Amino acid sequence: FFAGMHTHMIQSAGAAQQTASRTIDILYGSQTGNAESVANDAAQIAKAHGLKPVVKGMDEVEANALAEMNYLLVITSTYGEGEMPDNAQMLWDAVKSDAMPRLEKLQYSVLALGDTSYDLFCQAGKDWDERLAELGAKRVYDRADCDVDFEEPAEAWIKAVIPFMSGGNTTATVVETEATVAEKSQYNRKNPFPGRMLVNRLVTAPSSSKETRHYEISIAGSGMSYEAGDALCVVPTNCPELVKDILQAIGCNGDEDEPVNGEFTSLYEALRTQFEIKTPSKELVEEIAGRSGNKELNPILESGDKDKLADYLWGRDILDLLRQNPGCEFSAAEFIALLKPLQHRAYSISSSGKVYPDSVHLTVASVRYDSFGRQHKGVCSTFLADLVDEHTEVRCFFTPNKVFRVPDDNSLPMIMVGPGTGLAPFRAFLQEREYRGATGKNWLFFGDRNAATDFMYRDEIEAMQAKGLLTRLDLAFSRDQDEKIYVQDRMREHGAELFVWLEEGGYFFVCGDAYRMAKDVDKALHDVIATHGKMSEQQAVDYVNQLKKDKRYVRDVY
Ligand code: 2AM
Repeated sequence: FFAGMHTHMIQSAGAAQQTASRTIDILYGSQTGNAESVANDAAQIAKAHGLKPVVKGMDEVEANALAEMNYLLVITSTYGEGEMPDNAQMLWDAVKSDAMPRLEKLQYSVLALGDTSYDLFCQAGKDWDERLAELGAKRVYDRADCDVDFEEPAEAWIKAVIPFMSGGNTTATVVETEATVAEKSQYNRKNPFPGRMLVNRLVTAPSSSKETRHYEISIAGSGMSYEAGDALCVVPTNCPELVKDILQAIGCNGDEDEPVNGEFTSLYEALRTQFEIKTPSKELVEEIAGRSGNKELNPILESGDKDKLADYLWGRDILDLLRQNPGCEFSAAEFIALLKPLQHRAYSISSSGKVYPDSVHLTVASVRYDSFGRQHKGVCSTFLADLVDEHTEVRCFFTPNKVFRVPDDNSLPMIMVGPGTGLAPFRAFLQEREYRGATGKNWLFFGDRNAATDFMYRDEIEAMQAKGLLTRLDLAFSRDQDEKIYVQDRMREHGAELFVWLEEGGYFFVCGDAYRMAKDVDKALHDVIATHGKMSEQQAVDYVNQLKKDKRYVRDVY
């Protein structure tokens, strides 16, 4: 994403020589590839400064190796509720243990990627920063915490930190490099591709308790390509009715001319295309509370109790807050100053780029719910769902997920666990396997609420089974009987065979809900291995850790 950037490197000739062979280690903890891509960008810039960067995933180094390092950049995202990304967990466990050696000679800085809509913002990066200092390492440059719009602050951090890693030399030779990555796509967050909606259809039955849709978006002419396992980022616009209701609630008419990112646009356009208008920022909640003197909300804010605030905000969006606190009028400028930028949303792609080079398929559950007497809708899922006209523009770009991939070795078994829309990437994986003529066995665990209404892509899946592409299919429809049956119950039932597949070198993939499902599936995996491998609890943990290390246990969970 630093394509086309110019790096101005300023350094004395002597210093350049001194640092010519200085090795700088760059370790990344990455869930979806963002931290990895920042790490590679940092390496390019380090190289331009005459350093010798060594980029590694956190799962590629042992904790003891840290004691040998002199200069280290740690770049890590945070996953779920303040947790380490999958590839960082094992190293982190070792680093925070009492057995960890001191790191007195190490000089370091941390870049943390995160999302301010989570309470434990950038926690993984904060943990690393604190722990390295505790171990005696010297923090040579302050940690930077990046929100979802991470490109610019990440770039600023890299440019600022590298001189500290190269000895802080200034003056003399100016080296200019056309930095990096011509091979990176020209389309990105700042410049999304104008895709076209080709297909928008339901894959759940109209009578289902859920609305899940299948989309096909044309990327013809973009020059972009994607791999099974990648995600597509969609840049939505807000619902026009919601914009109008908000304008009315704040007492504006929408024609107000406002500067946004250096350009003047009407307030209406700004709210439709530039800002998050569903989920309130903390600043907006505080401002509404302050202006209205809300007797319920103000005490909650004063108490600083995050859980209570989350409870209060549950099911309330910006429009609810405005309507429930009448008299909160804002000028256009005041209002947009309290909003966050509208973010793209990433969806796991449900097609193989080999089979469908000109289009991308998505499988997305539409978020719709009633709350406080109104119908609420999710921003991006309903932006897509309500685009009924063929060929409407869908602005998008790809984000690679380099570890979530069909194995290179076509003969190895794949086990895929994907309930609900977690099925999406596995539809892509199976297409990919068929395209390659892969001979390896494929096993899918799928589940949802009811078979009659929620068995999406049923025809396709049964056809794959009939032709032998899908070797095994195990289904868990949770609400078709009195007691809940989930995918992990099916894993346990067939644990003996599952263990055999793992022993044959099988890959184990999980996609879907991070908070409950992925944790329960992880537990079931450990149990299956302990039971059928006749192992102790600790041996099963070691076995799973080895799978992770070998990138044979990978997850795409959210
Ligand atoms: P439920 O809603 O009936 O509880 C896709 O959403 C499927 O995942 C549904 O069948 C849902 O069941 C199920 N599900 C809910 N919690 C789960 C968990 N902890 N583990 C696995 N599946 C779960």
